[in-house]
Amino acid sequence: MESEKILILGAAGQIGSDLTAALRERYGNDAVVASDLHEGIPTALEGGPYVQLNAMDRQALEDVVQRFEITQVYHLVAMLSATAEQQPLKGWDLNMQTLFHCLEMAREGKIKRMFWPSSIAVFGPKSPQNQTPQHTILEPSTVYGISKVAGESWCEYYHQKYGVDVRSVRYPGLISFRGAPGGGTTDYAVHIFHEALKHGRYTSFIQADRALPMMYMPDAIRATLEIMHAPAVKVRLRTAYNIAGMSFNPEEIAESIRRKLPDFSIDYAPDYRNEIAANWPASVEDSSARQDWGWQPEYDLDQMVDDMLVQLKGAYVA
Ligand SMILES: NC(=O)c1ccc[n+]([C@@H]2O[C@H](COP(=O)([O-])OP(=O)(O)OC[C@H]3O[C@@H](n4cnc5c(N)ncnc54)[C@H](O)[C@@H]3O)[C@@H](O)[C@H]2O)c1
Repeated sequence: MESEKILILGAAGQIGSDLTAALRERYGNDAVVASDLHEGIPTALEGGPYVQLNAMDRQALEDVVQRFEITQVYHLVAMLSATAEQQPLKGWDLNMQTLFHCLEMAREGKIKRMFWPSSIAVFGPKSPQNQTPQHTILEPSTVYGISKVAGESWCEYYHQKYGVDVRSVRYPGLISFRGAPGGGTTDYAVHIFHEALKHGRYTSFIQADRALPMMYMPDAIRATLEIMHAPAVKVRLRTAYNIAGMSFNPEEIAESIRRKLPDFSIDYAPDYRNEIAANWPASVEDSSARQDWGWQPEYDLDQMVDDMLVQLKGAYVA
């Protein structure tokens, strides 16, 4: 494993900011090449190689893979749920083309293993809402969800047909303090901390009692590393695994924040993102990931809130 050379696509985003650091800790700074659209190196990615790379450009992508002798790709480029609803065809093109570029490179033997994340957005209004199982009706209602269902099927197809070693999880909404969220429906659960510390109040675009599956970033990063390091035979599902962290609604996270900031107040102005959330699960069931490669979350709601407030406090309190 130590001889792997890793390329991260979309490394400057919410997940990439944390994942790049975690991979560099494991493999060494020089073995992990971060890439994104930005010309200059983003602060979070300093400390190791960075290349400006448009993942839509297959030739440029292959050049980087060849130049750095890349063996594994972590594909994090996507147009997220809320943004893709505003530009459906552009979202579809970005999400699918960049995935195909990586799957094709793997089929041609140019890389050995790849990670591509799916999402709870694969589920739709006909899916069971609570403890949504691994295998169930999907039928998503967003462009983003459609691209994730199609992506999962293509990953499985490339694995079955061509033996491509592609691995995936369905991330819930992710909460982190380092990278800013990139235009998803669950972004409220990050914004709320910044507004609580800056202004002591927050207006939520998700209604008070709308629960969603969520996860603290350290758990998400650990899940990503664990599935990528599991023996291939243990990764039985080559679509994408449900992984659960916690489930809460805006009222509940506000209550948890009030344990530390008693004056914090929340009000509600639900918008189109609340409609997207209405068709997503409230919680997911993840026994396949637990059985196959030993998945186990560590953070619950209060532990996540405590850590977020400690991590962010320095930025707002003099
Ligand atoms: N954050 C979440 O809550 C969440 C939940 C479920 C699934 N996911 C999935 O995880 C992955 C990463 O999500 P994220 O939250 O870090 O997203 P993000 O929007 O924060 O980051 C995506 C990054 O991709 C870059 N990018 C966009 N177009 C590009 C292109 N053509 N070439 C190169 N880079 C490009 C952007 O500049 C950005 O830095 C996505 O596949 C997303 O669907 C995220």
